[in-house]
Amino acid sequence: MTSNEARKPIRKAVFPVAGLGTRFLPATKAIPKEMLPIIDRPLIQYAVDEAREAGIEQLIFVTGRGKTAIVEHFDTAYELERTMADRGKNLDVLDATRLLPGNLVTVRQQVPMGLGHAIWCARAVVGNEPFAIFLPDEMMVGSPGCMKQMVDAYNEVGGNLISVLEVPQEEVSSYGVIAPGQRVSDALTEVTGLVEKPRREDAPSNLIISGRYILQPEVMRTLESQEKGAGGEIQLTDAMARMIGQQPFHAVKFDGRRFDCGSKTGFVEATLSLALERPDMAEEVRAIMTRLLAEGA
Ligand code: G1P
Repeated sequence: MTSNEARKPIRKAVFPVAGLGTRFLPATKAIPKEMLPIIDRPLIQYAVDEAREAGIEQLIFVTGRGKTAIVEHFDTAYELERTMADRGKNLDVLDATRLLPGNLVTVRQQVPMGLGHAIWCARAVVGNEPFAIFLPDEMMVGSPGCMKQMVDAYNEVGGNLISVLEVPQEEVSSYGVIAPGQRVSDALTEVTGLVEKPRREDAPSNLIISGRYILQPEVMRTLESQEKGAGGEIQLTDAMARMIGQQPFHAVKFDGRRFDCGSKTGFVEATLSLALERPDMAEEVRAIMTRLLAEGA
C-alpha cells in the first residue's frame, strides 16, 4: 500500500463484549460489565462514541449469554420515549444511543477461548476490509479521541496500527508488549515484534497495547489456524505478530488519558476524573472529595 487511493476507509469496528466480568462480581451477575456506568453513561457508550467520532459506521458486538442489555441500550425504547415526550421531557439525552438502522450487528462467541477467538468470530461481518477493534474496558479520553488519532495516522501510513502507552516496567506482564522499531514521527513508531503477557525480564519494552487496533482483514486468516498462546487462550497479539514483516505495522502513542476500567480502582479513578471535568458536577464533587480526604486523615 503506497498511496492514499489504495487505502480502504475504516468503516467497521469490532467490540469484544462476551467476557464474564468476574472481577466485578456480584455487580456483573445479572448485567454485563460493559453496562456499568461511569457517571451517567455505560462503559460501552464511551467506546461507541469514540468509534463514531472516528467515522466508523458499523458496530459489530461479539457477545455471549447474558449480554442482551448492551444491544437493548442501542435500540429505541419506545415506551420510555413516548412517556418522556408526553411529559414534555427533552429526549436529547438519548441521542448517543441512536444508531442508523442496520448499523449494529451482533455475533456470538459461544465459548470464551480468548481475545483472538472473539475477533475471529466476527470474520464474516468484517469481510475483506480493514477494521477497528475496541476493548471497552480501556477507556481512552482525549480530544480528538484515540481512534480518531489512529485513523489520522492510518491515512498516512496504512497497514496495521495499534495504540500503545508506557507503563512502569513491573506492570508489563499484564499486557501485550511491543518491540519498537524506527520512529516515524513523535507519535508513530514502527513495530518489529509483539509479545503477549511477557515476563518482566523478557519484555521488549514498556510500551503496552492499550486496547485500540486498526487491522487488515488478513489477520482473520491468521487467527483461523491459531494455536493457543499465553494463558491457554487464542491471542490476538500472536496473530498480529505473525503479520509483522508481511504488512506495515505501526504503534501510535495516544495523546490523552487512559483509564483501566477492567480494574475497580481504575473504574473509580475514571468516575472521579470525569466528574471533576463536568461543569454540572465539578464543584460539588471537589468539595466532597476534599471533605472525605480530610475526614480520612
Ligand atoms: C488484552 C490484550 C493485551 C492488551 C490488553 C489491554 O489483554 O490481549 O494485549 O494489552 O487487552 O487491556 P486482557 O486484558 O484481555 O488480558
